[in-house]
Amino acid sequence: MTEPYDMVDLILAKRQGEALTGDQIRWMIAKYTAGGILDAQMSALTMAICFQGMTPRETGDLTTAMLESGTRMDYSGLGAPVVDKHSTGGVGDKVTLVLMPVVASFGVKVPQLSGRGLGHTGGTLDKLESIPGWRADLTSEEIREQLRTVGGMVCAAGADLAPADRRLYALRDATGTVDAIPLIASSIMSKKIAEGAQGLVLDVTTGSGAFLTDPAEARELARTMVHLGEHAGVRTRAILTDMSAPLGFAIGNANEVREAVQTLQGRGPADLVHVVCVLARAMLELAGLPDADPRRALADGSALRVWRDFVSAQGGDPDAALPEADHSSILRAEYDGVVLDLEARAFGVAAWRLGAGRSVPGAPVDHAAGIDLRVKPGDRVRRGDPICELHATDPDRLPRAYEALEGAVSIGDATRWAPAPLILGSVG
Ligand code: URA
Repeated sequence: MTEPYDMVDLILAKRQGEALTGDQIRWMIAKYTAGGILDAQMSALTMAICFQGMTPRETGDLTTAMLESGTRMDYSGLGAPVVDKHSTGGVGDKVTLVLMPVVASFGVKVPQLSGRGLGHTGGTLDKLESIPGWRADLTSEEIREQLRTVGGMVCAAGADLAPADRRLYALRDATGTVDAIPLIASSIMSKKIAEGAQGLVLDVTTGSGAFLTDPAEARELARTMVHLGEHAGVRTRAILTDMSAPLGFAIGNANEVREAVQTLQGRGPADLVHVVCVLARAMLELAGLPDADPRRALADGSALRVWRDFVSAQGGDPDAALPEADHSSILRAEYDGVVLDLEARAFGVAAWRLGAGRSVPGAPVDHAAGIDLRVKPGDRVRRGDPICELHATDPDRLPRAYEALEGAVSIGDATRWAPAPLILGSVG
């Protein structure tokens, strides 16, 4: 059969800054998913997009084409609003572990299809897998049943959810073409729209620990994604959050689960509680519950009950001891003063080097490895006070983690300290 287009023509057109038509984009994505376009050609096109961008219409067509490469989930019939959340990721970001139970405790259904981590930002599934017995793979029937009985779930996305993006994202990762806004927005939104929620709240992080460090770019990504969501009939809001310092005190896997449980018990760190409550309010508003108070769910144990039911429903034991590392080491303050900055990215890289993250997709992570901060920006310290504790199963990993932390802690005069806002704005 003769093809309507030639991939080389599409690459040349994009290289020259022309917009591709909807038909061309649909053809290309269908053909690529079926294995009919070479990875070399697709990577040339994504590189051309990195330089030339895409119009909003093209970005919309790309999102729809990737969405249509797989199945779209359908939660109608659950008899309750279904609202989802996505985060562009960060260091110490255990928000989902707290947010899902908080929102579900108000009767809203929260289906969270999550990923595993790669590089310095952790993955929600990796964190949850530190709970003995907990499993990330649920069938569509199990998802429906759990949403009906527990109200929320967190599981791995199935292979039929935007399969075109799965292939394209792996290719972008290997070819240095991840960070183009039309590609990021269509990648995230094709999966999120396929998840079938009626409402979606996007936590778009910015700062050194985030994937987009420039706030202007993060805002542009937020705007693009909100537009794509609304266009597809999903009520979408984005909240821009600061990720220049780690969120909470724990960075890793098991230790982040411990901190999430403390937060669900009403004893969480102020920054984590604040971000969770802002996102929860946005989700509850989309669910038609503008007066629901997320802090109440943390204080009265209702979110904790959802957490326990959720862990048990997915085979885990909510009371089981979590893994702990055999080796630890303390990084101490070099001066007296006020902690001005704890550079998130450096802490993420250090935790990763301790074994909490992976560099190759599919590799195992060490659930016990990670870092526990002992201070936060704004705290006063004396020389020799602990800044953080590093945990490792393999002590040979400690020196490289310490290297990552060189220059990551700044301590100075109290007059130089000004608290930075955690919530930088919203879109939608
Ligand atoms: N996360 C995604 O799912 N896709 C991207 O392109 C970037 C982050």
